[in-house]
Amino acid sequence: MAQAPIISFKDVNKIYNNGTVGLKDISFDIPRGQFLVVVGLSGAGKSTLLRTINRMHEITSGEITIEEESINDYKGQSLRLLRRKIGMIFQGFNLINRSSVERNVLSGRVSYYPTWKTICGLFTKADREMAVRSLQRVNLADKLYTRADELSGGQQQRVAIARTLMQDPKIILADEPVASLDPLTTATVMDTLQRLNREDGITVIVNLHSVALARKYADRIIGLRAGQLVYDQPIESVTEDDLTKIYAEGAEA
Ligand SMILES: Nc1ncnc2c1ncn2[C@@H]1O[C@H](COP(=O)(O)OP(=O)(O)OP(=O)(O)O)[C@@H](O)[C@H]1O
Ligand SMILES: [Mg+2]
Repeated sequence: MAQAPIISFKDVNKIYNNGTVGLKDISFDIPRGQFLVVVGLSGAGKSTLLRTINRMHEITSGEITIEEESINDYKGQSLRLLRRKIGMIFQGFNLINRSSVERNVLSGRVSYYPTWKTICGLFTKADREMAVRSLQRVNLADKLYTRADELSGGQQQRVAIARTLMQDPKIILADEPVASLDPLTTATVMDTLQRLNREDGITVIVNLHSVALARKYADRIIGLRAGQLVYDQPIESVTEDDLTKIYAEGAEA
C-alpha cells in the first residue's frame, strides 16, 4: 500500500485582509521524504504557501493535513507540537548575531523546554552534545564557540539549519535559503539540505528563484503564478521550456 502523504493541501485558498489573493484553489500532496522545490515569479505566493504549512499564515478556506491530521484548528499545545516537527529556514538566517554558534544552535531546542529554563540558559548536557552533533551534520563542528556574526553567509545559514535540527524535524521549510549567497556557498547550503533529506529522510520544501538550482536538487518542481498551482512535475519530466514558461510574464502554463 502506498504511504500516506506527509502533507496534503485540499482546495486551499488564502486571501489577505487587504483582499490580495495569496493562494487560490491549491490541492496537492507531498509524499514523505520528498525534496520539493517551489518556483514562480515574485509575488506568486511561494512564501505564502510555505507559511501556511506551519500556520505562520492562516488559510481562508480549504484544509491542510499533516501526517493525516487536519492542522486547521490546531492551537496551544497541538500548534506547538506542529511547529516543533517543522523546521524553518529563512533567507536572512535569523541568528542572534552577537551570540556564539553553540548558543544559537541550542536555541533550536527551546520548544522542548519550559520558558524559564531557556531564559536562564539552562541547557542539559544531552542537549549540548546534540548541538555538537547537529553542527557536525552541517560540517561546522569547529565553529562551536565562534560568534555567529563572524561566520560567512553560507556558514550562518548552515548554523540556522543545525538550529532546526535541534527540533528533530520531520519537515524543513526553506524560504529562499540561498538568495543572498554566492554560488560556492550556495552549493554548501543546498548540499546540506540534500544530505538531510537523503540520509535522515526529512521532507524538504524549498522556495527558489534559480531554475538551475531547482533542477539540480529537486525530486519534483511545482510552479505558482498569482497564487495558483500552474505546474507540477517530477524532475525526470521537467524541461527547460516548462520553467521558462512559468517565468514568462502572463504566459499560459
Ligand atoms: N501580509 C500580507 N498582506 C497582504 N498581502 C500580502 C502579504 N504578504 C504577501 N502578500 C501578497 O500575496 C502575494 C503572494 O506573496 P508571497 O510573499 O507569497 O510571494 P512570493 O512568491 O513569496 O514572492 P517573492 O518571490 O517576492 O518572495 C503577493 O501579491 C503579495 O503582495
Ligand atoms: Mg517569498
